[in-house]
Amino acid sequence: MTGGRTGVWLIGAHGSVATSAVCGAAALHAGLVEPVGCVTERPEFAVAGLPAYPDLVFGGHDVVDTPIEKRAEQLADGGVLPHRLVEQVRGELRAAEAEIRPGYERTGAGTQLAAAERLAADLLRFRERHGLARVVVINVSSTEPPYQPGPEAVSLDALRGALRGGATGLLPPSSLYAWAAFSAGCPYVDFTPSVGARLPALAELAAERGLPWAGNDGKTGETLVKATLAPMFASRALRVRSWSGVNLLGGGDGATLADPEVARSKLASKGLGVSQVLGYPVPGPLHIDNVPDLGEWKTAWDHVSFEGFLGTRMTLQFTWAGCDSALAAPLVLDLARLVARAHEVGRSGPLGALGFFFKDPVGAVTHSLEAQHAQLVEWAPGLGAGAGAADSGRAR
Ligand SMILES: NC(=O)c1ccc[n+]([C@@H]2O[C@H](COP(=O)([O-])OP(=O)(O)OC[C@H]3O[C@@H](n4cnc5c(N)ncnc54)[C@H](O)[C@@H]3O)[C@@H](O)[C@H]2O)c1
Repeated sequence: MTGGRTGVWLIGAHGSVATSAVCGAAALHAGLVEPVGCVTERPEFAVAGLPAYPDLVFGGHDVVDTPIEKRAEQLADGGVLPHRLVEQVRGELRAAEAEIRPGYERTGAGTQLAAAERLAADLLRFRERHGLARVVVINVSSTEPPYQPGPEAVSLDALRGALRGGATGLLPPSSLYAWAAFSAGCPYVDFTPSVGARLPALAELAAERGLPWAGNDGKTGETLVKATLAPMFASRALRVRSWSGVNLLGGGDGATLADPEVARSKLASKGLGVSQVLGYPVPGPLHIDNVPDLGEWKTAWDHVSFEGFLGTRMTLQFTWAGCDSALAAPLVLDLARLVARAHEVGRSGPLGALGFFFKDPVGAVTHSLEAQHAQLVEWAPGLGAGAGAADSGRAR
């Protein structure tokens, strides 16, 4: 990377994923851990010109005050991070904490335009204070319930008009953060299933400012396995009759998803891939249940009923027990590095080649993990050669 240091601004900076990402970047920088789980540390990305871990500067927004140091200690108590590592990176945690600002709460007073201007000002001041070449905004805050956009969201002019007219509850927080990011000239990545930048008006704003964006909903567990197994059934011409999944999780994410309305957002993004890969509808219930006792660990049990030659019925079952934050944090760092580099070389619009990282990838056509990986590797080293046309061509 030639263009100076990169800011990584985390929406939900006091959460598990954000805290693990900040700890992880510091630990990688100090050589305290191996880059296990870090996709962009694989040899195929060596020539991609990505920013190095020491060149990442962290800040963010959150609506709770629990300092990131305290959150890291809680994660260590829960067995996610070694206590020793938290001690070793305490300085970096304090530096990040000094850059965390109060986030946007929908219930707050004032217009959404005023709120967005304050959020954008936080980003601009962060960039200025540290002399950063760019700031990538990554949403790792609590998942929101599904959002039905109104007519204001269909064009930038309409949305600008509504916001300037004093709207107070028009956009969900994730979209207001995307608005603030684009207004401040920052790329935006959504690691959650929330709507974020996926509104025509916001896509227009990103295009107007020449900014790249990516999302949605990090693919870290059950869906990662599904994206690997579904193409196998397709290429072997086996017929999947049903695919059912049960997800048990705890932590902050589990508590948020205990609300059935919020869970609808997650279930929608989790349910997308299999039918798309197979090319026909595949029935089967998908459940998410909050089990506080599991903390940061998530267990998924999937039952796949399929049919072979002569109509013979068979089943596949798998159990995945993953530590959510340990799986997600390195991907957040990967995305920060890739999107920063895309911005540096002048890429804009939805980055479909990053579909490998997401359950519901914007600008991408396939849900097959292997195909997504091939696309990412082809795109990343050059981050250019023809990829601009390809990105806009693939946009949904
Ligand atoms: N961990 C994974 O494997 C994984 C995979 C895919 C997606 N995600 C998504 O990542 C997000 C974060 O997960 P987590 O486990 O860190 O959750 P968490 O509950 O630990 O953290 C979420 C943080 O967001 C903050 N927040 C809530 N509303 C906010 C707002 N309006 N502005 C700013 N901050 C706000 C909360 O205060 C909290 O600190 C969730 O949406 C989750 O669905 C996680």
